[in-house]
Amino acid sequence: MRMRHKHRKSSALCCSAGSRWSLSAVVWSLVGCILIIHFYSLVHHQEEGEAQVRLSHFPLTKELEEIEEENFQIQPRGKRSPRAAKRRGGKRPSLIDEFLDDSSQIRLLFFPDHKTAIGPTKAAANESGYFYPGRLWLDTEGNPIQAHGGGIMYDQRTETYYWYGENKEGLTYQAHKKGAARVDIIGVNCYSSKDLWSWYNEGIVLLGEESNVTHDLHKSNVLERPKVIYNDQTDKYVMWMHIDDENYTKASVGVAISDSATGPFEYLYSKRPHGFDSRDMSIFKDDDGKAYLIYSSEDNSELHISLLTNDYLDVTRMMRRILVGQHREAPAIFKHQGTYYMITSGCTGWAPNEALAHAAESIMGPWETMGNPCIGGNKIFRATTFFSQSTFVVPLRGMPDSFIFMADRWNPAELRDSRYVWLPLTVGGAADEPLEYNFGFPLWSRVSIYWHKRWKLPDGWQRA
Ligand code: GAL
Repeated sequence: MRMRHKHRKSSALCCSAGSRWSLSAVVWSLVGCILIIHFYSLVHHQEEGEAQVRLSHFPLTKELEEIEEENFQIQPRGKRSPRAAKRRGGKRPSLIDEFLDDSSQIRLLFFPDHKTAIGPTKAAANESGYFYPGRLWLDTEGNPIQAHGGGIMYDQRTETYYWYGENKEGLTYQAHKKGAARVDIIGVNCYSSKDLWSWYNEGIVLLGEESNVTHDLHKSNVLERPKVIYNDQTDKYVMWMHIDDENYTKASVGVAISDSATGPFEYLYSKRPHGFDSRDMSIFKDDDGKAYLIYSSEDNSELHISLLTNDYLDVTRMMRRILVGQHREAPAIFKHQGTYYMITSGCTGWAPNEALAHAAESIMGPWETMGNPCIGGNKIFRATTFFSQSTFVVPLRGMPDSFIFMADRWNPAELRDSRYVWLPLTVGGAADEPLEYNFGFPLWSRVSIYWHKRWKLPDGWQRA
């Protein structure tokens, strides 16, 4: 009893001292918290201010400050596409399943119809010059632009931009039950423009082959991702492209040449560069006139980069394996203030996936992966490269920090109706994701691709 009493007494004492102590602890903790919050908000505001200063530094983002939110209304379960649900074995289909399902009720969100087409023949005065990623895009004659998996070359002599890409006008079908959706080769289309918005159709500059089944360009084969560069020494325009058979087992690159940007291009040959399989590819011409081929290899598990010969018609023996084991494709290289950058996609066929940005001091590597460059929209938009796949990054003359990111929003049910997603890309500020080799502070500038439902280049940007 005594013990218990003593205990109770002491515990009572302890308790009252404790409560006094804990009261002051609470008060001091509160003061501490307020101070920390105050300090944090000070720093944060300062950072925000800096970020704004940094961002407003770019002429493009000044015009594009508003990052829009695209609110996809996910429909109640019953209303979602039965076909997409079937593909998921009865499980609730994801937005990507809906995207891939041509009978989906939300299809128009991804592939808006003719009513909202853009282009010089269609745009109202207040819409002229505006890019609407994903909308049908018409040329100067009012026809939908057919230049998929494309790339753009600026021709100094004519001060004109040329857009080369796959003409996918044909019927979409599967060569085999489990084969990828395809269209027959028609050829490579070329469009010209002074402002990157209104495009004149220069026609098919490299024609597919109708009858000779042994020809690389026979319609039953695959011609993808054509890119053109100009060779100052030979005064020729050189086109590189992915050449394959219908099963994607040939896995080669093809080369064509022309005296003029608008063709006709003469097809020269195809090969497996350095004896390796080569699928998605691109070429890059550096400031010093050297040009490079970059291609997905070893079953798309890595990329290879190789210096081209001086005439750009072949690869040299100088080749490096990069991003080994990372399974990337759809490479798009560009250069900013002496650093090389590249955007790639994952390997999921026509289905969209997350983009990654990479950087290197030397084009031959090592290349480091920086993370997903997509900003704005919503989470699913950022995780699917805005439902599209990279194909090229266009430098803008007179705007050294700004680029246009060109991507394809593939429509595997109707490949000819695949759309173009062009968005502003800027380089600047510290990268905000940890690098793979580097546990310290990221060394590279951040690459940002901003989602916009509608955007425009600043007026008179060509004269900047
Ligand atoms: C993608 C590739 C496209 C096309 C497609 C066929 O991975 O980027 O260019 O080849 O596969 O399924």
